Amino acid sequence: MNLSVTASGLGLAALAAWLLAGALAAGDAGQSLDAGNAPPADARAAFARPEGLPAGAAPLSPAVVDLGRLLFNDTRLSGDGTLACASCHQAQLAFTDGQALHAGRNGKPLARHTPHLWNLAWSETLFWDGRAKSLEAQARGPVENPQEMAGSMATAVLRLKADPAMVASFARAFPGRTAVDEISVTEAIGAFERGLVSPITRFDRWVTGDETALDRDEKAGFALFTGKAQCTACHSSWRFTDEAFHDIGLPDTGDLGRGAQLQLPAANHGFKTPSLRELAWTAPYMHDGSLPTLEAVIEHYAGGVARRPTLSKDMPPVLALTAEERQQLVAFLGALSSEEPPRPPQTLPKVELSSPDAQTAPVAATTISQKDKRFTPGRVKIAAGQSLTIVNDDKRTHNVRIDDPRLTFTSNAQEAGDSVVIAFPEPGRFGIICSIHPAMKLDVTVERQQSLLQHGPKP
Ligand code: HEC
Ligand code: HEC
Repeated sequence: MNLSVTASGLGLAALAAWLLAGALAAGDAGQSLDAGNAPPADARAAFARPEGLPAGAAPLSPAVVDLGRLLFNDTRLSGDGTLACASCHQAQLAFTDGQALHAGRNGKPLARHTPHLWNLAWSETLFWDGRAKSLEAQARGPVENPQEMAGSMATAVLRLKADPAMVASFARAFPGRTAVDEISVTEAIGAFERGLVSPITRFDRWVTGDETALDRDEKAGFALFTGKAQCTACHSSWRFTDEAFHDIGLPDTGDLGRGAQLQLPAANHGFKTPSLRELAWTAPYMHDGSLPTLEAVIEHYAGGVARRPTLSKDMPPVLALTAEERQQLVAFLGALSSEEPPRPPQTLPKVELSSPDAQTAPVAATTISQKDKRFTPGRVKIAAGQSLTIVNDDKRTHNVRIDDPRLTFTSNAQEAGDSVVIAFPEPGRFGIICSIHPAMKLDVTVERQQSLLQHGPKP
């Protein structure tokens, strides 16, 4: 858990309310103060919604988003003209299909459950196994998947080009471009999806200080979620996901998830941590759609976990919950959903031009820590010819990777205590990630030896 515990800047009333909620959750004040369940005074701040959303490939203009919505609902994208994206991601069902597994073309169920599409602008990877790196790259998947839309992008573009109304929509959306093409199709769909920001809920009102927005059970559920039940080890941030891949011990159905995608057995049974917003509208749950209710999800965490070597190190060794505690966790999860079926926002959200991280200057360092699912420092500069040593001083298994035409690198499973050394012969800028925890990012600037000598590396 990464919640920092400081009381500064927090009103006494809020602190008292927190302590009360914790005491109620634990049944007695003493228990709420033990190590696993300390009162994180600013715990709420860690769940505050961001101001704007990250920029995508295309501008988030009304014309582009309108075009994206048309394409999302357009059956001409499928081979036989019968299926649209919206056939499985139905707006009135919070962009799911309400089924455990959708039927594929051959009549057999698809391998995985249809996820909802809320707040994907912030996703590091797409699909349960993270095999797509952007919404634009993802959009091609279902169109060309023989079990899904069984079409081809090239054919879809030809059909769209033959429709004057569509050609006009493309021209409005992308005034600088002359032709309807695959890039415009995927960028418009991506922009439409970026605009699907989930509405403000009672939980958000509570986070921003409205004490009455949550009831006693929901507050107790939050205390359990962030404390004793250790859910925030993975369901962190305002979206309630760490963007990482975990084996949470569901029954083995033969789907190896991230492990198959990476060809890395240590990541077997690992699936992307889903965001927990709007779940009241998106049952059933999990990558295989196997759990019909939120109660069933809590039953899983509190006793149904299959213990195997790949089980995530973020899973608590044992989780014993009383009937009341289970019900409080379910109540809390409910408060993360809209009271009415969620709808995309009427006005488009503001786009943030750069992330705060991108503004920090790189520091000269050759040893990097991976503690708490974070590369520290996160931006470094070294001289060409130098090496970086990346030390796994975390409790988790990592997989350090550089995916760059100038330099490719992958460590195998990097267990706690293991170090990897990467040589950087040429100057340039390189991105390193952990492919099990892709929100871990290390930005490396390799300078010509001379320029480092001139400015002198900082000690
Ligand atoms: C036949 C049903 C079906 C259709 C049609 C379909 N999808 Fe999906 N969608 C799924 C399933 C199932 C998954 C999960 C697959 C996986 O993870 O391997 C998925 C996953 C996704 C994801 C990843 C979400 C996440 O949280 O990672 C996005 C985005 C998405 N679909 C968008 C689209 C778009 C855009 C279209 C149209 C071009 C589309 N889908 C058409 C069933 C469908
Ligand atoms: C080790 C990381 C981890 C921990 C700890 C964890 N989760 Fe999860 N959670 C996941 C992953 C990964 C999935 C998806 C697993 C899959 O489908 O195979 C998931 C799925 C879920 C889902 C289903 C969401 C959906 O859209 O299908 C819910 C609800 C949920 N978790 C709630 C909780 C609660 C409540 C706790 C604490 C008791 C918790 N989780 C603890 C990682 C975690």
